[in-house]
Amino acid sequence: MLATKQIVDIAWNKKFVIPAFNIPYLPMMKPVIEAIRDENSFALVQVARLEWEKFESKSLKAVRDEYECWRDEKHVRLHLDHVPALDEDAKLVDYMPIINEAIELGYDSLMIDASRLSLEENIEVTKRVCDVAHQAGLACEAELGAVLGHESGPLPPYDEIFASGESFTKVDEAAKFVAETGCDWLSVAIGNIHGAISEATRGQTKIAARLDIQHLKELKDITNIPLVLHGGSGIRNEYIIEAIKNGIAKINVGTEIRQAYEKGRETGDIEAGRKAVYLKTREIIKEHYMISGTADIISTAGKE
Ligand code: 13P
Repeated sequence: MLATKQIVDIAWNKKFVIPAFNIPYLPMMKPVIEAIRDENSFALVQVARLEWEKFESKSLKAVRDEYECWRDEKHVRLHLDHVPALDEDAKLVDYMPIINEAIELGYDSLMIDASRLSLEENIEVTKRVCDVAHQAGLACEAELGAVLGHESGPLPPYDEIFASGESFTKVDEAAKFVAETGCDWLSVAIGNIHGAISEATRGQTKIAARLDIQHLKELKDITNIPLVLHGGSGIRNEYIIEAIKNGIAKINVGTEIRQAYEKGRETGDIEAGRKAVYLKTREIIKEHYMISGTADIISTAGKE
C-alpha cells in the first residue's frame, strides 16, 4: 500500500490536487467516500479538533470507526486536520496526547498547527510533533502564516487582508521553518481564509477568496515541498487551478460540504443531508478540481 506521503508527492509532481474533506458530522463520511470512489478519484477525509469539540464528529475514535465502515484504500485515506497548540479561543492545547492517540488509532497522516505562536515557538512545537509522526511512519503537515476565519470575533474586511498581505506566509520564514522542522507539507496563507464556525455565523455564505499566485510561486521555489491550501470552500476556481499548477498539492474543503449537509438535513432526514453531501462532493471533484480518475494515475505511478 502506498503511504499518503508518496501519494501527495505523486500529485505534486504531476500537478493535480488531493482534496481533504472535513467530517464535522459522522453521517457525512459515507457520502464523501462514495463520491470520491464514484469519480474514481483520490482524496483524504479528515477531522480537526474543533469539529469534535464544536460540531458533532464526537471524537478521534468515532471518526476512525466510521471511516473503517467505508474504507477504500485505493481512493481514500484518513488524516488528522488542525490540532492547534493555541486554539481559536486563545486557549493553550495539550496537543501531544491528541497526536499520540491519532497514531495509535491508525490515522494515516496528521497536522500540527502552531501558527498562532511566534516563529521560534512554532518551529519548536512542529519539530517535536514531526519527529513523533515520522517515527510512526506518518507524514506531518504544519502551518505558517495566518489562515484566518476560525477565531471568534469579526474578521477585518477581506480586501484589507488581501491588500496588506500581513497575515501571509513570509518567504524567508518559510525557508527556515521547513529546514528546521522537517515538515512534509506546509499550509500557507496567500489570501485563503477559513469558513466561519461560530454558531451565529456558520451558515453564512463564504466570501469568494482570491489567491496571490506570485507569492505562492515564491513559497514553492523556496520550500520545495508540497504546499497545502486551507479554506478551500468558495475560492474562485481560476485561482485554484493556478494554485495547483504552482505547488498546491492538497486542498482542505470543509464549509461547502458541511453546509450542504446542514441544509439537507433541515427536513429532519439524515439521508437528505447525505445525498446533498454526495452531490456536492462529486461536483467539487469533477467540475472544480477536475480530478476524476486520479486513483488510477496514482496506482500506475506507484508501480513505476
Ligand atoms: P473551509 O471550511 O473554508 O473549506 O476550510 C476547511 C479547512 O481548511 C479545514 O482545515
